[in-house]
Amino acid sequence: MKRVFVLLASVLAITAQAQTHDWENPAVLSINKLPYHATLQLPSKEKECKEIVSLDGQWLFHWSRNPEERPVDFYREDYDVSQWGKITVPGNWQTQGYGTPIYININYPFVRNRPSVTSEPPRDWTAYENRNPVGSYVTFFDVTKEMLNQNLILHFGGVHSAFYLWVNGQKVGYSQNSMSPAEFDVTKYLRAGRNKLAVEVYRWSDGSYLEDQDMWRLSGIFRSVQLWVRPLVHISDYQVTAVTNADYSNFTVNAKIAVCNTGKKSAKNLLVQLQMDCPELYGINVNPNHRNITNHRIPKLPAGDTITVELAYHYDTPPRLWTAEKPWLYPFTLQLLGTKDSKNDEAFNYHFGVKKVEVVGEVFKINGKNVKLRGVNRHDHHPKTGRYVDDATYEEDIRLMKQANINFLRTSHYPDREYLYELCDKWGIYVMDEANHETHGYGYANQVMGEDLSFQKAHVDRAEALVKRDFNHPSIILWSLGNEGGVGPNIEAMYNKVKELDTTRPPFYDSDRRYSAIWDDSYLYPDELRKNAQQVTDKPFMMREYAHAMGNSCGNLKEYWDVIYADSSICGAAIWDWVDQGLYRSEKGEVKSEKFLYGGDFGDKPNDGPFCLNGLIAPDRKPHPHYYEVQYVYQPLQFVRDADGTIRTINRDCFTDPSEYEIIRDTIEYDDETVLNVYARLRHDTPWAKKGFVVAREQFVLTPYVFPDAHTPTANVSQKGITIDENKLTSWIVDGKEMLQAPLEPYFWKPENDNQSAAGFARRVATWKDVKDVKVTYTVINDHSIRVDMDYQPTATDRPVIPKFGMRMRLPADYTQIKYYGRGPWENYPDRKRSAFLGIYEMPLSEYETEYIHPQDNGNRCDIRWFEIGNLRIDGFQPLCIRAWDYGEEDLESAPRHPNDIPRGRFVNLNIDLDIHGVGGADTWGKRTLPQYTIDGNQPHHYCFILSTVSEGSKR
Ligand code: GAL
Ligand code: MG
Repeated sequence: MKRVFVLLASVLAITAQAQTHDWENPAVLSINKLPYHATLQLPSKEKECKEIVSLDGQWLFHWSRNPEERPVDFYREDYDVSQWGKITVPGNWQTQGYGTPIYININYPFVRNRPSVTSEPPRDWTAYENRNPVGSYVTFFDVTKEMLNQNLILHFGGVHSAFYLWVNGQKVGYSQNSMSPAEFDVTKYLRAGRNKLAVEVYRWSDGSYLEDQDMWRLSGIFRSVQLWVRPLVHISDYQVTAVTNADYSNFTVNAKIAVCNTGKKSAKNLLVQLQMDCPELYGINVNPNHRNITNHRIPKLPAGDTITVELAYHYDTPPRLWTAEKPWLYPFTLQLLGTKDSKNDEAFNYHFGVKKVEVVGEVFKINGKNVKLRGVNRHDHHPKTGRYVDDATYEEDIRLMKQANINFLRTSHYPDREYLYELCDKWGIYVMDEANHETHGYGYANQVMGEDLSFQKAHVDRAEALVKRDFNHPSIILWSLGNEGGVGPNIEAMYNKVKELDTTRPPFYDSDRRYSAIWDDSYLYPDELRKNAQQVTDKPFMMREYAHAMGNSCGNLKEYWDVIYADSSICGAAIWDWVDQGLYRSEKGEVKSEKFLYGGDFGDKPNDGPFCLNGLIAPDRKPHPHYYEVQYVYQPLQFVRDADGTIRTINRDCFTDPSEYEIIRDTIEYDDETVLNVYARLRHDTPWAKKGFVVAREQFVLTPYVFPDAHTPTANVSQKGITIDENKLTSWIVDGKEMLQAPLEPYFWKPENDNQSAAGFARRVATWKDVKDVKVTYTVINDHSIRVDMDYQPTATDRPVIPKFGMRMRLPADYTQIKYYGRGPWENYPDRKRSAFLGIYEMPLSEYETEYIHPQDNGNRCDIRWFEIGNLRIDGFQPLCIRAWDYGEEDLESAPRHPNDIPRGRFVNLNIDLDIHGVGGADTWGKRTLPQYTIDGNQPHHYCFILSTVSEGSKR
């Protein structure tokens, strides 16, 4: 008997030892954490809510590289923290000078050995020395006597990845699931006067196994901390849904409101009241004096009980429907009245929208219409504050999205801060809200995490947190179970949870299609999209991610949308992704360098280099050239000019009539070419653009350009100052000054962009480092103009595509002012030029170049008729492509990590081409530029232009 006991005791000891850490135990997701619930007050109105006390600001902070070295008893009241550093809450610690940010895509940044996150990694990994850094936070705050008579809740908006909480030396609880709020009832721990709050945050936990998103891996209390001073009897949760009848002629509002009594006495005669205002659009109420009220009396609520009240209100009139096009909202106030002390009555402000989301066979519908989701994915990222994004940046993001005609946002790959959803509600963006779940480190659609039942609770927890917090946002149309996760029962359990919590918006999931209302197949070529969508007949089809916008990219967008518009079963596609995840280097809360850093720049290891730079805009929110192409391809109206000259309008929206825009026609003559620009402009101000803002546009050439007559003088007279050596123009002296720093010569090479480098472009076309089978003819017209003809006659039939067909030369470094007639003003390439209209543009060389954070080929302009740089002028005999840089190809190809690593200013490098290989537009892991945007190496090519020098006075 005794022996059995000893044996049992040692088994228990081993088990206890293996499970000492809550943060390496998937069975413990939280301790004393309150249930998830809906955001009670609209984020923009939090300041008006008397129940909220912000604890944000400067806190005391201590960083340890591993749990063993952490200050174990720092939470005690007698522990001296006076020598500690400072940290701003909300914020990540790595962006404030503590520890190392790590950028990694698929693999875990620690050794994969679940549930442990502290197994020994290779010595050169960041996680070797910094095995699992711990941030210890302390702050002090005051509480009044009156507050102590209420219910006091600590609210953490987001803490990465797991934390313990102490108040006044007493342990309160623990939480994981970093992107959702964690709340604790701290009433019994607080006292009148000064209180000590201590938070111990672990960089990694077993929860990190579900947080393997492709992003900067950052830690800390990165969202706001609040003290909620709540009446003892209060609204703990509510859900409001508005459902229309089949023909949209009337609708019903249903509200479920949970009221709880946290006091010691039962409460009597409570009134729950919902007061609904008239609908408003962009904050303008149609009838400010009209409101509808419904309420319910609770005779008695015993101490410790929660009751759920259901209210319904029927409107006998047609609803003003909520859509991304016209985001009509019904503001409401939810009140709890008649609590013992009326000053404790509660009121929250929120809004609902009336909309219907349906999957009808293979068609996805919003309010009965086959809406097309013109989408983008977005990470919550700020170059200075990392995962904390302030309100102004949120507004800028949603404004820029609306201006780019984006109507669909996937919150890849976790719930964002609440205010973002409020903006989407108000300004009009359909949202796919995504659970904080990715297990890509075990492989795409892995069984490991999908089937490991010890992680099932953790999966479901994340689905629940998602739907519960964001339920009341009308902008949400789909709940995503996560990204690149497992397959199996854990996903099924998430799916069932979402279905249980919300019947009005279906679940979506990419990795296990059994648990998704929509079939996802991402990063296809346009043609594959067409074919695959035809094959899937039981569900709507979407590309949750496409057009990988890394570096110089986003070609062939129009081709995608031709397919999407032609097939009613394709509900849309979302670009990967919105903003380049470049980080500034910061120390002690101050930005030390405004250079945008990426994986590896912090010595982080392992890392995935610049693969985090896939945005339509730069980290500082400056749009890239491809942002404008998205704006054009996503425009709600498309204009077509028929043979008889009439302009037809194709409306891609469902709830807006073209007549709601002001249509402007602008005929412009450039030289002898006449173009017609058609614009659709806003008739009224909106929160995201002013009246007059152009939402759609098109350009038509009415009278084409007359290129210089092909019979320009042919006499090949040798002129003084001009030296020709076979195919090269080696010297050209004008006014005693040499024009050429390097000869004008045939040149078919171009550096890769990121897409091309991933697809092995340079290797595949390496033969073009040497030009072949080319003959250049120089015809000196006079000493200030030379005609250049280049002919390519292939002598082989197995050549790869030509990177670019044309010539290059180098000019003196002070040739920095450019004026041209062609497509612009922004960079454009053959497969990405529709947004760049023909015009005469003038700019310095620095603007002609595009500075990608990860240096690569850039700056092309297409369809150039003439081009002036310094005193040199180029006139094409056909449209030209021209790139100009203050550095050379070799400077890009020596693999500089950052723009300021490029040696500049020795000369101006000018490429004058007939054509150039398109940028590509599918992915950055192998897919190629579409064939129609490449140059056949087995066909003859010819082009011609005149080079001339112009004196200042004779410039156009
Ligand atoms: C996708 C993934 C994204 C991102 C992208 C590559 O497959 O869902 O999170 O990693 O690839 O940039
Ligand atoms: Mg991934």
